Amino acid sequence: MPTIHSLDALEILDSRGRPTVRATCTLASGAAGMASVPSGASTGAAEALELRDRDPSRYRGLGCRQAVGNVRGEIAGALGGQNFAHQSALDQALISLDGTPNKSRLGANALLAVSLAFARATAAEQGIPLYQHFAAIHTPGKKAETLPRPTINLFSGGKHAGGQVPIQDVLVVPIAAKTVDEAMATTYAVYQSAADLCLEKYGMRALTADEGGLAPPFPDAEAMLGDAVVAIERAGYTPGQEVALALDVASSHFYSGNDTGGRYHLGGEPLDSAGMIRHLTGWLERYPIVSVEDGLAEEDWANWPVLRRAIRGRALVLGDDFLCTNPTRIRRAVDTGAADALLLKVNQIGTLSEAADSCRMAQAAGWHVTVSARSGETEDDWLADLAVGWSGGHLKVGSITQSERLAKYNRLLAIEAETGLKMAG
Ligand code: PGA
Ligand code: ZN
Repeated sequence: MPTIHSLDALEILDSRGRPTVRATCTLASGAAGMASVPSGASTGAAEALELRDRDPSRYRGLGCRQAVGNVRGEIAGALGGQNFAHQSALDQALISLDGTPNKSRLGANALLAVSLAFARATAAEQGIPLYQHFAAIHTPGKKAETLPRPTINLFSGGKHAGGQVPIQDVLVVPIAAKTVDEAMATTYAVYQSAADLCLEKYGMRALTADEGGLAPPFPDAEAMLGDAVVAIERAGYTPGQEVALALDVASSHFYSGNDTGGRYHLGGEPLDSAGMIRHLTGWLERYPIVSVEDGLAEEDWANWPVLRRAIRGRALVLGDDFLCTNPTRIRRAVDTGAADALLLKVNQIGTLSEAADSCRMAQAAGWHVTVSARSGETEDDWLADLAVGWSGGHLKVGSITQSERLAKYNRLLAIEAETGLKMAG
């Protein structure tokens, strides 16, 4: 039974140069694990709270010294010397110690760093690969079964780029690839042909967004989709048969709610929810889109089931900010038929066990699960192990560029080579 000998933490920097938390957990056996937490920019209102120092003279208030201090002080003091039979026992101790509904006292960044570092240390103590340990955390006795299919950012707008178009990401889904190895090579070809296209069409070497997506000055969202199809064709693939598209609309970020119903500011006349749904179904008719993430705003609950009925069987209705990896929100969405896929981001909820609850709840409802990184990432690669261990159908990490993204793909390639597991269909 793992006994915590000591906990330590360090303020490190993420891929945007902003502070985040890395924790180290050392067990009484001498086994140790270290883990770093990512950070979002296009966050949902219901996310667990990332504790920031709010000292404007340092990192514009974004410092994580308090969160680090909480790990080294209060959390280490309370958990040191204790044994925890399961990950859920450790996570429950963290939740109780914090005592707030959104982890705002000690910080979800502090709690998750400890939760992950403990998982790594426990896997090391047992001498098993992290993905197998994650599988056992998901369900005792479970083994890794499949590899997730990568969905990879091609073009970005919204909060991840200069806001030149309101929608956030157009992603490539290599649907015909049989292996991760083949999926990455296919994506590279499409990404390079898109970069060439940007140079030709927009007269510039395309700038990249926070997750490495290309971000030329698209005149509108339609151009983003049209250019993605051209890039797929020019790379020698058949759109919709070999390579499809996924969309992260992130529509909460261009939505304004009011008493007569909200409005979506997509450019041109503001759209009501029915207008937004018509817009999305129109895109589905013209472009090979297989998944629509946050097609409606996070508070537009009444219209999510309408969207789902409209596109069911054609594209997944994927909830990111809408669900916030939160079991209560997922339960409500299952009961109301509001979605059929979960975007799983562990730091939206703040501990591994709660994220596992969300994952199991979605899978039990027959939903698809896409395991996702954040726009502010670190070089840590635990996410690839998590996606494998928890049988995520897709892994969404960003683009095929930048080491904080590639660390996860490289880990996935290594797991593929080591296990020979098949990629999810
Ligand atoms: P993030 O969003 O900036 O909050 O990480 C990524 C996404 O919307 O999928
Ligand atoms: Zn999203």
